[in-house]
Amino acid sequence: MCGIIGFIGRDKCIPKIIHGLEALEYRGYDSAGIAYFKDGKIETIKEEGKIANLKKLLNFNEDAYNGIGHTRWATHGEANKTNAHPHTVGKFTIVHNGIIENYSELKNELINKGYKFKSATDTEVACATFDDIYKEEKDILKTLHIASQKFRGSYAFGILCSDDTSTLYAMRNTSPLIVASAAYGNFIASDVPAILEFTNKYILLDDYEIAKIESDKITVYDKDLQVINKKINTFAGTFAAAAKNGYEHFMLKEIHEQDKVFSDTINFYFDGTIDSLEKNFSFLKKFSKIDIVACGSAYHTGLVGKSLIEEYANTPVNVEVASEYRYKKCFYDKNTLVILVSQSGETADTLAALRKAKEDGITTMAIVNVIGSSIAREAEHVIYIKAGCEIAVATTKAYLAQLAIFSLLAIYLGYQNKCIKEDELAKIFTDLEKMPKLIKDTIANYESYFNIADKIYQNKQIFFIGRGIDYALSMEGSLKLKEISYINSVAYQAGELKHGTISLIEKNTPVIAIATDKNLIEKTISNIKEVKARGAYVIYVSNEEPKEDFYDEFIKITKIHPLLESILTIIPLQLLAYKVAKNNKCDIDKPRNLAKSVTVE
Ligand code: G6P
Repeated sequence: MCGIIGFIGRDKCIPKIIHGLEALEYRGYDSAGIAYFKDGKIETIKEEGKIANLKKLLNFNEDAYNGIGHTRWATHGEANKTNAHPHTVGKFTIVHNGIIENYSELKNELINKGYKFKSATDTEVACATFDDIYKEEKDILKTLHIASQKFRGSYAFGILCSDDTSTLYAMRNTSPLIVASAAYGNFIASDVPAILEFTNKYILLDDYEIAKIESDKITVYDKDLQVINKKINTFAGTFAAAAKNGYEHFMLKEIHEQDKVFSDTINFYFDGTIDSLEKNFSFLKKFSKIDIVACGSAYHTGLVGKSLIEEYANTPVNVEVASEYRYKKCFYDKNTLVILVSQSGETADTLAALRKAKEDGITTMAIVNVIGSSIAREAEHVIYIKAGCEIAVATTKAYLAQLAIFSLLAIYLGYQNKCIKEDELAKIFTDLEKMPKLIKDTIANYESYFNIADKIYQNKQIFFIGRGIDYALSMEGSLKLKEISYINSVAYQAGELKHGTISLIEKNTPVIAIATDKNLIEKTISNIKEVKARGAYVIYVSNEEPKEDFYDEFIKITKIHPLLESILTIIPLQLLAYKVAKNNKCDIDKPRNLAKSVTVE
């Protein structure tokens, strides 16, 4: 989703801004632009499509030392040059991430005052709002402060005012924004990867804060426009993750990192003893109900989590999509734990669901990858997955790490609730140790999944079926496939297909059938036979060798304790989706229309 970068300092700003924009590319975008002071005037250059198009229009050697850049993911108005950021109205030039929800109201007021608009964006309206207030106030900080009270919705802004060539301004509400400092100047950015090449020292802006950034000074104001001291954070890692290390795509690289991600995540909370789980998760004991709330793949991990926690810990779990949960009547109470799952920790709907639960006095816990992200900061309890920086828009290693956490939670709660006995616990712990190698072996078997992908990639639609936990995995397998290959794919509960959708099955329609739950395998096989009888090309994914001939392809999953098995089962589905997309020559790491971090609702 939209990315913001800005730089002011003693070095030339254009190369730094472009580098930052490239580091933000993974978030997803459809146009890019830059604005900077040159000889006391603001110059703006923007272009539709990739940053490469913008680069062709730039002079990297320009004597410019204060500027802002933006990658836009269209929300209001189509993806074209006019709607691309930065926008300028009067004395203000801005870049924006978020949505100003009352923009049409503000726009009408501004039109009545004589403002004219070129674009269809809410951002241009925000820019005109700044200009209009400034005419009256003649003070930039006061202007930003008053505007922040007028805007409804979410925003992170990078702001230049032509009356102040030596300052860059920034402010935020809900959408993420950081301010970072280096020896030769200061940055603003949507997230840490954008500035890691230059510095690892940064400040997280909180809602309604305004930053005044000069070449050698950063001043942050709170919502009452009082100067405040902000903590300077140091990012521990490097951005080495941003290199493909010989892999053709980030997605493939990230799939191959999953054994390490699993170990890093598990080892952070578990040292081989139940005591370590007790130390990290004892706060979970007091809850008798759980709501898991998330979006996209994180929602799918929640579905697997539900299956595991209900089955092994006997605790009822309700899983909801965050964009629904935030507006619905919730039946939670003081015995409910609301778990928010988010790789980025910035997804607007998940953040809103978290805030709603908090406002209602409900305990919240977040499972997050990005340290210091909004959801991580605001949730009462945080469990970090240790996936490292994930660049491919389609998540793989973060999804797997989230599954690992749900397995640990189910083990701990199952033991606490006396559903898992000592001997079973010992078996699970032994299997946990085997997992990194099994994950590695499953990935190493990629050629067999690729061969299957080569047979199905030209199909117009591909179905996934499964029951129980296998249905939850089917949903993720199907999402992975459609998001990167653009092939229509739907996941169904295996028993449900015959109630309508089976009419779509034709000769050779691929149906990927997942059956790992021993209690349901026979039932799923009956459903597979129903589609096979109608000509489906069946790819059977199971931990049991099939005894009858009801399939065309077989993917064997290594048998392990069912609490851990979904972690292995998802891997062939990721690799299958990858190869189908590759054969179709799709932009695997940056699928069309998608964003990595969805900071608007
Ligand atoms: C976007 C991404 C998905 C992700 C979802 C939730 O749609 O493309 O890969 O699962 O957002 O993101 P989160 O950062 O909250 O896990």
